Amino acid sequence: MTAGVPLEPWAMQALVDGIYQRYGYDFRAYTAESLKRRFQFVMKRFAVGSFDQLQDMILSDPDFFLDVLGHLTVTTTELFRDPAFYAALNREVLPRLATYPSIKIWHAGCSSGEEVYSLAILLREANLLQNTVIYATDINPLALDKARAGVYPVTSIQKATENYRSVVPNGDFSRYYVANYGMAALDRRLRESIVFAEHNLVTDSVFSEVQLILCRNVLIYFDKALQERALKLFDESLCHRGFLAVGIKESLQFSLLGPAYEEVVPRTRIYQKRISCSQQKY
Ligand SMILES: C[S@@+](CC[C@H](N)C(=O)[O-])C[C@H]1O[C@@H](n2cnc3c(N)ncnc32)[C@H](O)[C@@H]1O
Repeated sequence: MTAGVPLEPWAMQALVDGIYQRYGYDFRAYTAESLKRRFQFVMKRFAVGSFDQLQDMILSDPDFFLDVLGHLTVTTTELFRDPAFYAALNREVLPRLATYPSIKIWHAGCSSGEEVYSLAILLREANLLQNTVIYATDINPLALDKARAGVYPVTSIQKATENYRSVVPNGDFSRYYVANYGMAALDRRLRESIVFAEHNLVTDSVFSEVQLILCRNVLIYFDKALQERALKLFDESLCHRGFLAVGIKESLQFSLLGPAYEEVVPRTRIYQKRISCSQQKY
């Protein structure tokens, strides 16, 4: 009966405060709705009878917290998710990245890696993968383990193939995986340019200058102030005229940074830093 348990906002706030004090993971600026769903999911997953009991178990047992951490964020993703987005990225952004001698990309909130491998495939087809480093980061250690393995249920491959074909109409997706025992292992060579690492958008800082940042379907779980923090981090990481891609349901429109960016193709949520007025003079 845990799925429908009403969770009081003050009780959830007390637990996220406790998690922050005890473990340093800061979920205090996540929306109440997303916290409620995650705690309900965790109680069901670990068969915990009450929220008080969950609080005790999390705060007194670091190993249990580590197990819970892997379920505290929503990790839904897929290969070539939103094919129209990847088609626009392929058509509009990759040719511009090709003008750099070497390319650095930050994929923030990469979850179990499907989006990262999708991008790596497009970069390989554009003959750019060997000149690229992709930093693929997430707060969730369980998701990162899956991302490093690059092995996905074979049941996801049919949808992935359809998505890929909408992006590359004559492409052959079967070149990129080997299926065995119900699982599909992606080509290991795609991994050679990818660095998977833990990075927390709430507490960590910039680590490299990059030309493209993808952070899709992550900001929707943050309150306004935390969204601004993450966007500021991205702005500081992006080079002059760098590109920033957010999810289809996300936007820079209401952000303080909005005026400094233009959408490259309408409704794709791929933005590029504008040339600022001071730069235009020179
Ligand atoms: C819904 S998934 C999106 C995955 C992928 N980008 C996509 O669009 O398909 C959201 C991801 O954001 C990650 N995330 C949530 N809070 C984060 C934080 N503070 N720092 C880094 N990643 C975070 C979650 O762990 C999860 O893997």
